[in-house]
Amino acid sequence: MGLINFGINASKLWSGVNYSQLVTNEKDHNKQYTGKKIPLGVTFALTFICNFECAHCGADIDNSKSDQDASTKLMIDTLNELKRLGGQRISLTGGEPLVRKDIKDILQTAYKNKFFVSLTTNGWFVERHLDKLKNLDLLVLSLDGTEPVHDFIRRKPGSFKKVMESIKTAKKNNIPVLVNTTVMNTNVDDMPGLSKILKELEVYWTIDLYLDNTNIKSWQKGSNISRPTDKLLTQVISLAKDNPYLANSSHYLNATKKKENKNSNKPQTCFAGIGYCVVSPDAKLYPCFPAQFDNEFEGMDLKKMSFDDAFQKMPLYRKNCGSCDYICHLEMNSLYSFNPNSIFKGLKYLYKDKFLSLFKRKNSEK
Ligand SMILES: C[S@@+](CC[C@H](N)C(=O)[O-])C[C@H]1O[C@@H](n2cnc3c(N)ncnc32)[C@H](O)[C@@H]1O
Ligand code: SF4
Ligand code: SF4
Repeated sequence: MGLINFGINASKLWSGVNYSQLVTNEKDHNKQYTGKKIPLGVTFALTFICNFECAHCGADIDNSKSDQDASTKLMIDTLNELKRLGGQRISLTGGEPLVRKDIKDILQTAYKNKFFVSLTTNGWFVERHLDKLKNLDLLVLSLDGTEPVHDFIRRKPGSFKKVMESIKTAKKNNIPVLVNTTVMNTNVDDMPGLSKILKELEVYWTIDLYLDNTNIKSWQKGSNISRPTDKLLTQVISLAKDNPYLANSSHYLNATKKKENKNSNKPQTCFAGIGYCVVSPDAKLYPCFPAQFDNEFEGMDLKKMSFDDAFQKMPLYRKNCGSCDYICHLEMNSLYSFNPNSIFKGLKYLYKDKFLSLFKRKNSEK
């Protein structure tokens, strides 16, 4: 999907917008949106299963719930229907998406429908599934530090090496690749070392702030993982900004610091459930991840109704939005709002080679 195609579709969304309900006012919580809705982007958490037990993991993973993952047929039907509804972008995550036995069928259906397809993985099975990943528009590899720090957070010896191999394999096979790093207290000091490695590898990089409002898994009880202080986060952000491969928008970087800021409850616009949504492993549709993790908000069951029905009938989620700093949602909100910095980042990504040679020339002239 080119940025232009996305722009045309986002404009359609804006043509029927109800601006007052785009603003995240709590009074709209659980109400129906009265403007136009198009599911332009859908994130599928494909499975409850994971081969890792990361110290920081906030995803809904539980290997004992493997039988509850959406069936292959449901996934394929949903993707086909989504295309008919105007879907442009799908993001596959989990759990670990590459443990799904039918990942080949899911990816083939996604490619056939010409979505912009991204897949986020811990990297462990990239080599094994390489043939299926070659048509991805974006492979996102999670990397949380230099070798000892990453392996400690991921609680898996050898996991850093796997990510390094996966980056190299992706590059060799012309698969666009990006590294995502969750910043938390245990790796905040390690960011200069990580940034250096990523610069040398010339790989795109996003940082995402650790979220502490998720469900705690058995192995995480008593964990000392927490968010870094605002001061440390500011240092990480300025370091990251010095890396030409940083792909975060300034909108997201500024928003991550707002929790300790007194303006944190300032309303913002949000397209959750209007222009994008998320699907849980057991095929329930939600506006956003905070809604999925809120036991009081009921997901729309795709096993019982069509995607269109579910998306159109799903009420807005507008609870605690002032403190929402999910990277996937904030970056989408920024892009859907035609934020110039996000558009610039998109263009930079699309024309990366030209941009990077300019950046290098500028630096060598300093
Ligand atoms: C939930 S994982 C699923 C995909 C795959 N298993 C992986 O680790 O990349 C998706 C991304 O969310 C990040 N993540 C997990 N828990 C988080 C948390 N509590 N706060 C912020 N990001 C988190 C991971 O580091 C990873 O980059
Ligand atoms: S962060 Fe990813 S790899 Fe780690 S436990 Fe969670 S889902 Fe699994
Ligand atoms: S994505 Fe964040 S801001 Fe938007 S509805 Fe969900 S919680 Fe609120």
